[in-house]
Parts: sequence; structure tokens; C-alpha cells
Amino acid sequence: MIIVDLSGAKDFWKQEPDWAACEAAHKTLWEKTGAGSDFTGWLELPERIRDTELDRIVAAGARIRSLGRVLVVVGIGGSYLGARAAYDLLGTQGDGVELLFAGNGLSAVSLRDTIARLGDRDFCVNVVSKSGTTLEPALGFRVFKTLLQKKYGPEEANKRIFATTDARRGALKSAADAAGWESFVVPDDVGGRYSVLSAVGLLPLAAAGIDVRAVTEHAIETLKALNERSSANPAWQYAAARQALYRSGKTVEILGCYEPRFRMMAEWWKQLYGESEGKDGLGIFPASVEYNADLHSMGQYIQDGPRMLMETVVSFAKESACYPIPSDPADGDGLNYIAGHDFTQVAEIARKAVKQAHINGGVPNIAVEAPAMDALGFTELVCFFEVACALSGYMQGVNPFDQPGVEAYKKLMFAGLNEWK
Ligand code: PA5
Repeated sequence: MIIVDLSGAKDFWKQEPDWAACEAAHKTLWEKTGAGSDFTGWLELPERIRDTELDRIVAAGARIRSLGRVLVVVGIGGSYLGARAAYDLLGTQGDGVELLFAGNGLSAVSLRDTIARLGDRDFCVNVVSKSGTTLEPALGFRVFKTLLQKKYGPEEANKRIFATTDARRGALKSAADAAGWESFVVPDDVGGRYSVLSAVGLLPLAAAGIDVRAVTEHAIETLKALNERSSANPAWQYAAARQALYRSGKTVEILGCYEPRFRMMAEWWKQLYGESEGKDGLGIFPASVEYNADLHSMGQYIQDGPRMLMETVVSFAKESACYPIPSDPADGDGLNYIAGHDFTQVAEIARKAVKQAHINGGVPNIAVEAPAMDALGFTELVCFFEVACALSGYMQGVNPFDQPGVEAYKKLMFAGLNEWK
């Protein structure tokens, strides 16, 4: 289970974490009585999916693997970031396919790069869009559908398209039904940023060879554990601590990790927390850093800039790899005294030093430890951050499940595009 260590944060809050408010938020969330409760289906999602779609997801994953070596996953925001985060963290496993991602922007450079990486390899496409009308994935899907049709002809192309969308409505659902694409469901009661453990994330992961049955079973167990009503619950600890720090003037939270593979997990986390809490003029601004690289860039600001920062650092208890530091006969850098030790040992010393330096510089530290950088560790982090986010949002007094602000740019963008009609 996730372990949260607040020893580096407790000297920074002006008032203790509000456990009573956390308990009230917990009750509101799990009893589904709060704002946005129609979008709390993610709490039961793993159980539901095990009993309904999981067999079909596993079978489709196997079919995608048998049809080629690449799956192009087309989607944006909540229909993209979870699968991308998991894939960057875990990579292709066994006989899994490579995942390429498209439809998450409007850059022609990126699009050409993705097509070049695909090359002439056999591939399938998983288009993911709850509404079916989001501009970026809709345009990206046009491109890859056309490539499929050119390469395989219309009939074979239809067998290589997998649609993940609304169960009943929308442009993508209608197109899937008309063309006979196998389709999977983005549940009505699950918002995009909470959807990674639905077919939105599980289908690409199954194709990449990740054991999605184990992920689902572990999510059921983890969510059960996170339903504990006590300050020993790690989700309570994280939610209550960050709210206590927010009330003490720490308005920006940096999520850091010493594993570069975690970079897209931090992007996923930013969407989860940014969309859930940033509203009504309130909310901690979620930012991220990648250590050690950012110690040599953002490190200066974190150490010495304005003191509105808090830092949450994710680590993994079990090392995933080790590599001994070689000796160098010339010893030009004078580092032979470190030779023979492992990179992981040096990293551990660096981690402790950075934590202490940042605390000394006035940045509270919340440490979050997952058991391992594997599929089960990923699952625990997802469940932990989701539950903590909902609790934190309710403690802050907002609806953690809506995102009214994202419509503003769309209205203006379509006003511009509509001039072409
Ligand atoms: O979390 C959200 O709701 C958003 O990020 C959406 O997932 C994103 O805008 C994509 O929407 P759709 O799945 O309808 O294409």
C-alpha cells in the first residue's frame, strides 16, 4: 500500500490538518451525497468492469497483438493521459505492441513524426473520445483512419479500428455502429480524468501486454483499503496535509519524482488535480519536476524563489534496476571513491540531501512511496491520487468532478473555425 510521510511538512502548517473535515469529505464521497456525485462511478469501476467488459478488453488486446506491432491511440486529456502515463511508466511487456499516441494536439510536426515512427509496420487504431466531437482527436482519427483504409482497404480497416466512447450517444458511437468497429465504453458516471481504469486505459494497456486483470483485481483491493475512515488512510493524510499547507499560503504544489519514466504520470496528476480543484477562484496550482534533471534548472527557484511552494515527491520502495559505477584508472573527475557503489545508492543519498535542502529553504515536503514501479504500483498510485483528489476538492469546498472552465477557449476557437462554413 502507498505510504505517506508528512514529517517534512508538519513544521509548515499554521493549523493541524483538519481530520474532521477530511472525515466529512470521505463520507460525502463514498455515500455519494456531494456535488458531482453523478461522476463518482470510478469508485466501483474496477468491480463493474471485471463483471462486464474485462474479458472483451483482454480478447481485443490479444487481437490487436495478432494484427500488428503498433496500436495508435487517438485521444486527448482524460481520454489520453492515463494510458500514456501507464505506458511510459511500464513500457511494452512480453509480446505486447508498441503504443503510439496521436490526436492530443494540432501540431503537424508531431503528426508527421508519429507517422514516420509508425513506418510501414502493421497497426491498429484505438480512438478514444467520450463525446466523439473533440476537435483534436476527431482530426487525428481522420488521418489514421485514412492511412488504415489506404493500407488495408475499407473492410480490413474496419477490423483494425477500436472505438472507446459513450455507451449510447455521440458521433463516434454512431460511426462505430455503422462501420462495425468493436467498441468499448467510457462510463456515464466517470469523468475523463478518472477514467484510466476503464476501457479508456485498459484496452491500450492490454494491447501493450500489461496484465489488466491483475490491475483490475488490485484496484478493487486498493479502493477497498482507501475506504478506511481514519487518519491512517494515506489518501486522508495526503488530502488533509495539502489542504493544511494551502491554508498556510502554499498555493503551488510541485510533484517530483527521480524516475524519468514518471514524467507522464505527473502530467496525468496535473490534469486530475488542476481540473478538479482549480475553480471558483480557488485551488492549489499543480506543477511538476523531473529529478535529478530539474535540480539543475528549477532547483534554483525551488530553493530560493517565492515561498508559496510545497513539494510532493513520489518514490518506489523496490528498486527496478541497479548499475554499478565503474572505476576509471585516470580518475580525472576524482570520483573513484564512489566506484563500486551502485547508482541507486548514490541516488538515495542525493534524494535525502535534496529533501533536506528544500525543507531548509522553506518548502514543505510530502513523501509518497509506492511499492514498486510496476503495474500494481501504478494501480495503487492511481487509486490513491484519485481518492485523495476527491477528498481534497470537497475539503476545499468545490465540485471535484466538473470542469466548466475548459469550455471558454472552445467557444472562441469554434467561432474562428465557423468562419470557414
Ligand atoms: O477530463 C476531461 O473531461 C477532458 O480532459 C476530456 O477527457 C477531454 O477533453 C477529451 O474529451 P472527449 O473524451 O469527449 O474527446
